[in-house]
Amino acid sequence: MAAGVSPVDAALRAGRTPMSARLALPHIPGVDAAGIVDEIGPGVTGVQPGDEVFGSVDLARLGGASAEFAVLRSWAVKPPAMPWTQAGAAGTSVETATRALDLLGVRPEMILLIDGAAGGVGSVAVQLAVARGARVIGTARPGNHDFLRSLGAEPTTYGPGLPSRVAHADRALDVAGAGSLPELITLTGDPSSVLTLADRTAASHGVRLSMGELAGEPHGRHGLPLAARLFTEGRFEVPIEAQFPLYDVAAAHTAVESGPRRGKIVLVSP
Ligand SMILES: NC(=O)c1ccc[n+]([C@@H]2O[C@H](COP(=O)([O-])OP(=O)(O)OC[C@H]3O[C@@H](n4cnc5c(N)ncnc54)[C@H](OP(=O)(O)O)[C@@H]3O)[C@@H](O)[C@H]2O)c1
Repeated sequence: MAAGVSPVDAALRAGRTPMSARLALPHIPGVDAAGIVDEIGPGVTGVQPGDEVFGSVDLARLGGASAEFAVLRSWAVKPPAMPWTQAGAAGTSVETATRALDLLGVRPEMILLIDGAAGGVGSVAVQLAVARGARVIGTARPGNHDFLRSLGAEPTTYGPGLPSRVAHADRALDVAGAGSLPELITLTGDPSSVLTLADRTAASHGVRLSMGELAGEPHGRHGLPLAARLFTEGRFEVPIEAQFPLYDVAAAHTAVESGPRRGKIVLVSP
């Protein structure tokens, strides 16, 4: 019914990430999808044909979420009120944000700084951290500050000088990979209190770069049913910037590569 298109899909297609070389060709792009279960695999329990689900495919084995049929590796039941667009775009952002918050050990009352908080992963991380009871400070361009407030974060601008705008953070999550790691270490006082999802220089700063299951890390799939429950409680949404019909996937890739955006790009079944 719907399939998210993320910056990482465009990067994979363009060969801008090492993972591109590991994809079997020809490769159907797309990682996230939502739809109606058509078949279930052997040993799969807790779901049956006709159920409405959302989640992600196994990128390394199959890929192919930007298609009429996709084989989901991780999924949760879609709340009836959740729009297909939001469900189709949720999978990777929810898994990634959940994994990052787990690795950082985000708990109630902690102050969490998220650098790049208005993006696809960042906006989900803000909401899941707020749901954990954390106080979240998020960076974004000024035009996104009201948006961040609506998600429950205290906004500030990104770029050099962060320690002069934010007094302290217990943990920091870098979603942008824009070179802020030294300042995030200053703010938290400890490289192990900082996690990046996008900065490949992390090791030189003593900071962990989380790349997920492919890198042998624990996964954040348990975030999917939690996100579904939070949506039903009115405490979670997947911001959507634009939708395209499935046959216009090239336009969706162009849109995801041209900023600025506020929310996800998603393909919908025509
Ligand atoms: N490691 C993993 O497991 C994993 C998984 C998924 C994604 N990722 C990576 O995470 C990154 C973000 O993905 P996404 O889908 O959330 O991308 P996105 O939707 O394009 O969001 C990127 C955000 O970065 C912000 N930004 C731009 N310049 C910045 C700067 N100088 N400092 C701080 N923030 C800045 C933008 O904020 P404004 O809009 O306010 O300008 C934008 O909201 C990508 O590099 C992606 O490859 C990693």
